[in-house]
Amino acid sequence: MNYWKYALGSFFTLLICGATFQITTDKDTDWPKYGGNSAGSRYSELTQINAQNVRQLQVAWSYDTGENNNPDGRGNDIQCQPIVINGVLYGTTPRLKLFAADAATGKQLWKVDPFSNPNVKPSFHPVRGVVYWEEGNDKRILYSVGSKLMAFNALTGDPIKSFGENGLVDLHAGLGDSKTLGYDVTTFNIRSTTPGVVFKNLLIMGSSVSEGGDALPGHIRAFDIRTGKLAWVFRTIPLPGEYGYDTWSKDSYKKLGGANCWAGMVVDEKRGMVFLGTGSPSVDFYGGDRKGANLFANCIIALNAETGKRIWHFQTVHHDLWDRDIPCPPNLITVTQNGPDGRPRKVDAVAQATKDGLIFIFDRETGKPLFPVKEVPSPKVAALPGEAPWPTQPIPTKPAPFSNQSFTKADMSTISSESSAYALSVFEKSRGGQKNLPPSPEETLYYGIGGGAEWGGSAADPNGIMYVNANNMLWLLRMQATAAQKNTGALTQGEKLFTTNCAICHATDSKTTNAANTQAYPNLKDVGKRLTKQQISTLIETGRNRMPSFQHISKPDREAIVNYLLKTEAPVKTDDIHQVTAVETKKGNLFPYTPAYQNRGFSQFRDPTNYPVIQPPWGTLNAVDMNTGEYVWKVPLGEYPELAKKGIPTTGTENHGGPVVTAGGLLFIAATYDEKLRAFDTKTGKVVWEYKLPAGGFATPITYRVKGKQYIAIACGGTRYDLKPGGKYVAFSLP
Ligand code: HEC
Repeated sequence: MNYWKYALGSFFTLLICGATFQITTDKDTDWPKYGGNSAGSRYSELTQINAQNVRQLQVAWSYDTGENNNPDGRGNDIQCQPIVINGVLYGTTPRLKLFAADAATGKQLWKVDPFSNPNVKPSFHPVRGVVYWEEGNDKRILYSVGSKLMAFNALTGDPIKSFGENGLVDLHAGLGDSKTLGYDVTTFNIRSTTPGVVFKNLLIMGSSVSEGGDALPGHIRAFDIRTGKLAWVFRTIPLPGEYGYDTWSKDSYKKLGGANCWAGMVVDEKRGMVFLGTGSPSVDFYGGDRKGANLFANCIIALNAETGKRIWHFQTVHHDLWDRDIPCPPNLITVTQNGPDGRPRKVDAVAQATKDGLIFIFDRETGKPLFPVKEVPSPKVAALPGEAPWPTQPIPTKPAPFSNQSFTKADMSTISSESSAYALSVFEKSRGGQKNLPPSPEETLYYGIGGGAEWGGSAADPNGIMYVNANNMLWLLRMQATAAQKNTGALTQGEKLFTTNCAICHATDSKTTNAANTQAYPNLKDVGKRLTKQQISTLIETGRNRMPSFQHISKPDREAIVNYLLKTEAPVKTDDIHQVTAVETKKGNLFPYTPAYQNRGFSQFRDPTNYPVIQPPWGTLNAVDMNTGEYVWKVPLGEYPELAKKGIPTTGTENHGGPVVTAGGLLFIAATYDEKLRAFDTKTGKVVWEYKLPAGGFATPITYRVKGKQYIAIACGGTRYDLKPGGKYVAFSLP
C-alpha cells in the first residue's frame, strides 16, 4: 500500500477479492464543471454525507442575490448549477449577474452586471452554468448573455479585455454569410442557455435559437479561450455538397434553422472527442419545406474536439414533427457487456436520455448501439398538405421507456370525479393515443413535447447505473394554416407580426385552453388587464425565462404587436394584405420563413384544478442499470400535500432540474412543484431526507468539500409553474 499517497491527501482505491473500498482523505473537492466533470456524470466520490447521517443535514449558509423581490410576484428563474473552484463558488443571479462567493460561508467575493457593458443589450433568459478555464496564473470564468460570450478574471471579476472585441465574442460568428444564405444572420436572435465545454484551449458551444420562421441555424462552434477567435464550425444544417445536405429540401439551408445543441455537451478528454445532442429543425411541427430525414437535427453526434470533424452520429427522431429535441447532455458511462467471445468486457459508452422517454446507448468510439435499435413503422395517417412524415422511427429494445409513450381512455385521470369528467370530455373530442401521429388542424394530444427527460440531465455512477428524472404530461397541439395560406383577407401589421413571431407559443383566444392550464405558455387574451403597454413592449425586447427576446423587431413593430394584443390597433390598409414577413427582407430572400402551417399555441393538458389529466405518476425518478438495460427502481418524484391528505398515493409532480449522486449512496434532487430538496437512497429509491426550500429549486444541485466539510448547494429561483420567485443559493452540511 502506498501510504505516501494517503498522507499527501489524494484518495486511492484498494482492490481486495473483487470488493472495492474507497478511502478518502481531507482533500478539498471542487465541483469544477457543469455536470460535475467532463463526462457529465453529476456524480461525486464524497461520502461524508451518507445514508446513515443524512437526516442531520442542516442549512450551512445561504447567499441572497438580492433579486426576484418584485412586488408583482414575477421573476426570472435561476436554472444555474454553480461550479466550485479552489473553494470559490461561481454562479449567476436571476437577472444574469455573475458572482463569486466563498463556498464554505456563502460570503460574496465579487459580482458583475453584464449589462453595465453598453454593448450587451438587456435580455433575460435561463443561464444553466458557467465555465472555468486556467492556464498558469490566467484563470477565467466564461459565460454568455444574449448573443455575447464573455470572459472574466476568476479572482477579481474584471473583464478580460483581450478576449474577443473588448471582452465580448458575438455568438453569430460562423453561422454563415449573407452571400450563401441570402440573409444577414446578425439581425436575428441567438443565445446560449447551457454552458459550453472546454477541450484544451477551446470552448465548444451550442446555442438556443428561435423555433419559428426566424430560427438561425444551430451550428456547433469552438472558440479559442485565449483570444475569443472562432476555431471551428460543425454545420448541423449542411450546405450544398456537404454530408447530409441531401436529407433536406434543396433550399432548406436558406430558410430554416434549429438543429441546435441547447442542452449541453460532454468531452472524452483522452479520446479528444466531444459528444452532443441536437434539437429539432425549424419550424416545430411542420416539415413541408424540409423533406427528408433532416441530418443533423435530433442527433447524438460525436465530433473530433480539436477539429470539429464528425466521427459518427445517430438520429433519434427522423424528420421531427413534434419538437423532440435532445433535451440534456449525454452521459459518458462505462458498462460491462458480453463481448463477441461471450466473456464480459468493459465498454466505454455514451448514453442519451430523450424528451420522449427513451435511453439510447452507444459504443463511444464507433457509435454502434449496445442494445439493438428497431425502426418502428409510423402510424399511416394523413398528414398536413405538403408534409411527408418519415415512415419509421427508432426505438431501442432496451431499456424500456422511462416515461409514458401512448395512452387510451383508461389512462385518463380518476383523481376526482371533476377531473375525470373533464379529462374524458377533452379525450373524446381530441385526436391522440399513438405516439407518432403527424400534427393536424384537429386538437391532438401528445406526450413528450415538454419532456420526458429535461434539461437537468441524468446522473451516472461508476457501476453503470443511470438516474433519470422524468415527466408524464400530455400536451395539446393544434395546427393552423398561416395567414398567407388562409386567404381570409387583410391582417393588420400587429396581427401579422404576432402570427409570425408569437402565435407558436401564445394563444389569444379562449378556445384552446381552459384558464387553469395556460401556465406553460400564457394565453394573452386578457394580457391588458395584467400588463401595461410599456411592460409588454419591454418584455418583447428583453424576453424572460422561456420567452425569447425579439431584439430584431423594431420599436414601431413592437408597438403594433402591443396594440394588436390590447385591441387598440388602427384598421388595416389594403396594401398590407397577405404579407406575413416579420422583417422586411430583400427581394428573393427566403428568410425569415413563413411555413404553410404553424401551431396556434400549445398547452399542457390539465384539469380545471390544474392537475395533469392522466393517471399518476406525473413525475418520476428512475434508476436504470445500463449494463443490463433493466430498471433497479422507479419511484414518484414530488407530491401534492393536499392530494396526499386525501389518501391518494404519491403522484409525483412536474419537475425541472437534475439529480446529483454521491458515493455516500445518496441522490439529491429538487426540481418539483412542492419546492423541496430531497435525498434518495440510491439502493432502494426511498426518500431518506427532505427540506422545504425558500423557493422552488428548478436547477441541479452540486456537492463539494471545503476545509474538510462536504456541502450540498442549490439555486432556489422559484418562478416556474407560477410558483413564487426566489433569489437564493442555499448550502447544506452536517452539524
Ligand atoms: C418560444 C415561446 C414564446 C414565444 C415565441 C413568445 N413567447 Fe411570450 N411568453 C412565453 C413564456 C414561456 C412566457 C412566460 C414567461 C415567464 O415565465 O416569465 C411568456 C410571457 C409573455 C407575456 C407576459 C404574459 C403575462 O401574462 O404576464 C407576454 C405579454 C408575451 N409573452 C408576449 C409575447 C409576444 C408579443 C411574442 C411575440 C413577439 C411572444 N410573447 C413570443 C413564451 C413565448
